[in-house]
Amino acid sequence: MTKKIPSHKDFSKVSDLSNSINKIVVSRGNPFAKLMIIGEAPGAKEEEVGEPFVGRSGKLLDKLLQKAGIDINLDVYFCNVVKCRPPKNRRPTKTEIQENLPWLYQQIKLVNPEIIVLVGATALGAILENKSPISILRGKWINWKGKLIIPIFHPAYLLRNQSKEEGAPMSLTKLDLLKIKEKIDTLK
Ligand code: URA
Repeated sequence: MTKKIPSHKDFSKVSDLSNSINKIVVSRGNPFAKLMIIGEAPGAKEEEVGEPFVGRSGKLLDKLLQKAGIDINLDVYFCNVVKCRPPKNRRPTKTEIQENLPWLYQQIKLVNPEIIVLVGATALGAILENKSPISILRGKWINWKGKLIIPIFHPAYLLRNQSKEEGAPMSLTKLDLLKIKEKIDTLK
């Protein structure tokens, strides 16, 4: 089966943001993976390298995924809602999110994952109509267009909240990732 994998050429004009940046950040990982991880937007390191989740947050996310037994090269396709870095790392605006959504939907269609992990409140708000906060929805399976969605805390939030206590964001996220790993195994 041939599969058209989204490349930078497909994203040449994703929004007005693409006028002010030097690289459009599309994806990292396996485009045939059953698991798609969707973040907010690239930061400075991601823009420099041209891949999502390669800065401090990404390194923490990789470490937590690997600890849960998830293979970051084989099991995962990483991308973001917004494909260009918002100036000064500010949060993307509602307009920027709306402009980028068709590209994200196209990516979801082409990669066709069975599980989608929404990383942080921006990804959650962009995809789901349920406007409950991430603290309520994290770790919960949600059916969405024939796929399973699960929100988790953003690793940048975990970097700011490093308590290892039971019930703290870090330990909740570790449990969420174990839950995701179990689900991946049921799909194999
Ligand atoms: N945060 C995100 O949401 N995405 C990235 O690619 C990097 C940091």
